Order: sequence, then C-alpha cells, then structure tokens
Amino acid sequence: MTYAQVYGQWQQDPEGFWLGAAGGIDWVTKPTRALNDSRAPLYEWFTDATVNTCWNAVDRHVAAGRGSQAAIIHDSPVTGTKHVITYDELQNRVSRLAGALKAKGITKGDRVIIYMPMVPEALEAMLACARLGAIHSVVFGGFAANELAVRIDDCTPKAIIAASCGIEPNRVVHYKPLLDAAIDMADHKPDFCVIFQREQEVAKLIPGRDVAWHEFQYGVEPADCVPVEGNHPAYILYTSGTTGAPKGVVRPTAGHLVALNWTMRAIYNCGAGDVFWAASDVGWVVGHSYICYAPLIAGCTTIVYEGKPVGTPNAAAFWRVIAEHKVKSFFTAPTALRAIKRDDPDGAMVTAMPSLQALYLAGERADPDTIHWAQNHLKVPVIDHWWQTETGYAIAANPLGIEPLPVKIGSPSVAMPGFDVQVLDEGGHPVSPGTLGAIAIKLPLPPGTLPTLWNAEDRFIKSYLAHFPGYYETGDAGYVDGDGYLYIMARTDDVINVAGHRLSTGAMEEVLAGHKDVAECAVIGVADDLKGQSPLGFLCLNRGSDRLHEDVVRECVALMREKIGPVADFKRAVVVDRLPKTRSGKILRGTMVKIADNQPWKMPATIDDPAILDEITTALKSLGLASG
Ligand code: COA
Ligand code: AMP
Repeated sequence: MTYAQVYGQWQQDPEGFWLGAAGGIDWVTKPTRALNDSRAPLYEWFTDATVNTCWNAVDRHVAAGRGSQAAIIHDSPVTGTKHVITYDELQNRVSRLAGALKAKGITKGDRVIIYMPMVPEALEAMLACARLGAIHSVVFGGFAANELAVRIDDCTPKAIIAASCGIEPNRVVHYKPLLDAAIDMADHKPDFCVIFQREQEVAKLIPGRDVAWHEFQYGVEPADCVPVEGNHPAYILYTSGTTGAPKGVVRPTAGHLVALNWTMRAIYNCGAGDVFWAASDVGWVVGHSYICYAPLIAGCTTIVYEGKPVGTPNAAAFWRVIAEHKVKSFFTAPTALRAIKRDDPDGAMVTAMPSLQALYLAGERADPDTIHWAQNHLKVPVIDHWWQTETGYAIAANPLGIEPLPVKIGSPSVAMPGFDVQVLDEGGHPVSPGTLGAIAIKLPLPPGTLPTLWNAEDRFIKSYLAHFPGYYETGDAGYVDGDGYLYIMARTDDVINVAGHRLSTGAMEEVLAGHKDVAECAVIGVADDLKGQSPLGFLCLNRGSDRLHEDVVRECVALMREKIGPVADFKRAVVVDRLPKTRSGKILRGTMVKIADNQPWKMPATIDDPAILDEITTALKSLGLASG
C-alpha cells in the first residue's frame, strides 16, 4: 500500500485502523473498541483492554524463542566498556528488580522517580516499574537538584531509583548529592531510594532510606507482569512549558504500546532482530520511546550509548557504533550532526556502514546544510521527522516502511495516520497552502499521545485545548505546501530549543528574578550555529545598585546552573537599563531575537519607548550579536 492509501484508510475508519494496529500487541484482555470519547474533548484509547508493557517489551520475545537475541547493547566510550544483555537476561534482571520493588511495597499506580545516566539499569528500572504497573518518571541527569525536587513534589514518588554518578567527558556528575539535596528541598519524601553504585563513584548511603541496587535484589522472588487497564498511566515525563512549573505529560499504557509498535515498521522499517539506535538520553521523550520502549516492543536490539557525538573520542564515534553493532536505523538530533560536521567538515572520518538503511532526525529544525552533509557522506536517506514530548512519536514523517516519499529539504514530510494536522490563523480558521500559521491537530489525538497532564487537567485544557476549540495546539508555527508537506518554522510560546533540548525562557526568567540585585529580566533564545538556539539574559538591576555588572552576570550564570542545571546552557547575560515593552507592559522578546539574529524587523506599533531598542542593540553588539 502507498502512504496515501494508508492515510486514507485511517481517515475513513480510524476505529478499524487502530484496532487493526492493536493486533501487534499481546493483550491480557483484548480491546473491543479503540476510542473512548465519553469525556470529549478529553479522549482515551483502549480503555476496556488490559495489558502489560513489560510483557510486550521483554517476556513475549523470550516466549517466542528469541531469548538469546541481544536486547540491549551498552556501548560506553566514557567508561571504556561494552556489554550485551540478551532478552533472557533482561527478563531475569527486570523480574528480579520488580520483585524487589514489590517486596518493598511498590504496587500498581505508585510513582517511582528514576534519575540515572545512560546505563542499561535505567531501562531495567523503567521496565521493572512497567512490570508492576508502577508509574515511572525519569529525570534527566543534566537537571539540578531544584528541578528534581519540583518533580518529586509533583508526582510524589514512593521510591527513587538513582545511580551514584553520571559521566560527562569533562567531569563526573555526582548524582547522589544532587538526589540528597533534592529530597531535602522537597516537601514530599520517598519511602526509600535504590542506588546503583558505579565503579567510578561509590556514593555514601543514608541508613534506613537508601539501599544499594545489588543488595536490594538479593534473594528476592522475581515478580510477574501485572495487567493494567488500557488507560493506566505508563509514565509521567516532565517537559518545559511557559512557566517555571514543568508539565507532567502522562503516557497511557495501551495507546503507547499500539502506536510505538506501529511506528517501528511504518516509519523506521524495523522489526524483530534488527538493530535500532536512538542517540538521545533516557531522560527525554526520544529516549523513552526509541531507546527503551519501541525497539524492545518490536523485538529489536536497542543501543544504549553513553558518550557524545564528538570528543568520545572523536567525530567518528557514531559511525564506529553503527558499523560495529550493525545498526539498521539510526536516530539523532541535528545538533549532534552539526557538532560532527564542525570537526569533520569533509566527512573524512565517515567509515563504511553497510547495515545502515536510514538516518532519522528530530528534536529541532533540521537545517539544509546539515541534511546535505549527511546525505553526501552517509549515502542513505536522511529523514527529518517532527514530534513532541506530548505526542511521544512522530506527528509528521517520511514513512520509509510504508513507502519512501520524495524528501523535501526543510520539511519533516507529511502527517502520519492519526494526525489531522491543520495550519490555523489567529481566529482558528485553516489557512491556504503556503501561508504561515499556528499548527494544530484536530481532536482526537491518536493512541499513545497525552490524555492529560499529571494532576493538572485544567492546565492541560488551558495549555493545549482552549485556544483553538476542537484542536490540540502544538505550540509550533509553520505552513503546509501544496503537496501536504509540513514546514515547522518556530515556536509560538516562550519555549526555546537548545541542542535539541526543550527549555522554557519563562523558567529561566524566574531564576534570574530570584537574584537579589535583579529588578527585572528577560531571556531570549538567539541563533547558535551548533546548538540551534542559545539562551541570553537581559538584566535590569535594582535602582541605585552599585554592583559591578560582570559580578552580577557571573552570579546569574551560576544561579541558573544551580537552579535549573547545566542542561540550560545559560552562559550569557547582559545588564541593561530598561527592557523594551508594549504600552500594555509586554516585553518585546520577539523583536529582541530578530535584532540579535540580524533578521529584518519592524518597529512594533505598540512599543512604549522606541529608544530602548537602541540600547538593546548596543548591549547585543557588546556580545558580538546584532552585527548586521
Ligand atoms: N548529566 C549531567 N550533565 C549533562 C548531561 C547529563 N546527562 N548532559 C549534558 N550535560 C551538561 C554538559 O556537560 C554541559 O555542561 P558544561 O556546561 O559543564 O559543559 C551542559 O550540560 C550542556 O550540555 P550539551 O547540551 O550536551 O552541550 P555540549 O557542549 O556538552 O555538547 C553537543 C554539544 C551538540 C555535542 C551535545 O549537545 C549533543 O550531543 N547534543 C545532542 C542532543 C540530543 O541528543 N538531544 C536529544 C533530543 S532528540
Ligand atoms: P520535545 O518535546 O523536547 O521533543 O520538543 C518538541 C519541539 O521540538 C517541537 O514542538 C518543535 O518545536 C521542535 N521539533 C521537534 N522536532 C522537530 C523537527 N523535526 N523540525 C522542527 N522542529 C522540531
């Protein structure tokens, strides 16, 4: 079938389409219907089914006789180790860990935070939770204690599973002191913490609260898979919104299984026995969907890579992993390729990779230079695809497993079945092809996408459903061309994208406003050759402040690292007298971005005092920006 036929099939009979896709999953109780619209515009899927994620990701492959196949390959240039875990071994390890959690009182519906680097134990912890029906929430290692504390208070975990440390090329990241500080800061306290002690750092345990990973599991009875309802939350993953409070995206169990399984063939053209690699981190949605769950649900081998695109040891690291482990489909962020391209502009370090079928890019806009470089040197199709934490998988892609469509550079191609993507004007009316507008998806969203935000249904409705009734608002702006290809151009909110990481300028402003000398502030994302965008702060100091500007800037940079973490990558700020605002007091961040990036800009008609923009331009020039 062609893409058009498959998409048409879904349009004509969405219920039949998703019940058909549900055939790829092992159910405890089969669904009799797909969509549950009894609370529209809040929708759920497969609510009358029961199922277990871990069974589908692990046990069923052992039952099918593929226990000796590699499930996980841990390739860790930062520790100089490689390690293969078969499906048999994975089943033993996960059922034992689940047994230990169960023995300590973890049951269906309990939350468990996982704070771990790129080690197989992170996936095992996720799968052990899934085995019991416990709801995990993985927190990325690059976040500071404060961010971890916010998540602890929001999802109130009974347990936290953490590693003693993570390893960045230039330093050991001491997870345990961050964890201890976060628990001190949080109002909610977990009953216990399981600490995976790594060779590189043995953390000090707090008696009565902490238990070491191996000791914890010693002599326990392995646990079986617990069936859960189709709409039971599989996990909560926090992502940036417009304020400092992150949004807890809820992932429903059955829709997640059905949709991810469908994408593995349709989009990534992979099935049982194939080797799949997403070079991301388990702390992000790409890591949840395509390092852990989807490849395992499909019976592939997944690679857990603990390293960087460059510097571990060099720009050939990705190509070495692909060739050595015979990767068929490879997924990364454009920023990683830009880092490689910067070190190896002529592709001299790209080696033969006969197993590689395609390269997939997501997380940020894929710039044409990067795509051309990859096409020229890797000599495989380069597939840009667009998705969000909220959806959990691609909204738009080039479905290689259905039909390879012509690639249009700058476009993540076409809407996937399940997604009726529309470009709307401010009044919520669809615009004609080629016209820029807000990108929205007609409700209902397909299986596996977020049904709500954790403990925040009102916020879910306000953030996503209220602006355009009948639609989900993506927060992205762009257009569709005459062939139905989408072009994602910018965010419509205060979210910026730094090295494929989604960050909230609002959250950063809250941190800066907390500095004792800062009266007012703004954070914008300016264009960055490597990372796509880079945050930049503007600080107005308290009247009469005699502090040296460079001291305040240095303290603000340190404060951001302390409060949000190194992942914010906040390294630049400048002191200004005033911020440009509209007459109603709205800070003109968009205009500041355009000036900084040398883009054409118009004096906003509503500006309060145009002279302030001259002061901003001067400040930007002092940082080497706004040079045009
Ligand atoms: N734990 C702790 N700290 C982390 C971390 C982690 N898991 N990941 C990153 N950091 C730290 C880095 O050490 C760095 O700290 P520094 O300021 O002390 O140097 C900071 O966070 C910023 O990290 P990063 O964005 O990785 O920048 P970089 O300059 O170290 O590397 C790239 C640049 C392009 C190589 C890197 O950003 C990269 O690999 N990007 C791909 C991103 C990706 O896969 N995203 C997933 C979305 S699909
Ligand atoms: P995240 O939730 O962290 O995955 O970030 C999602 C956001 O990243 C989207 O809303 C887009 O703004 C951006 N994004 C992801 N993939 C793409 C892509 N292929 N092209 C353009 N922007 C993208």
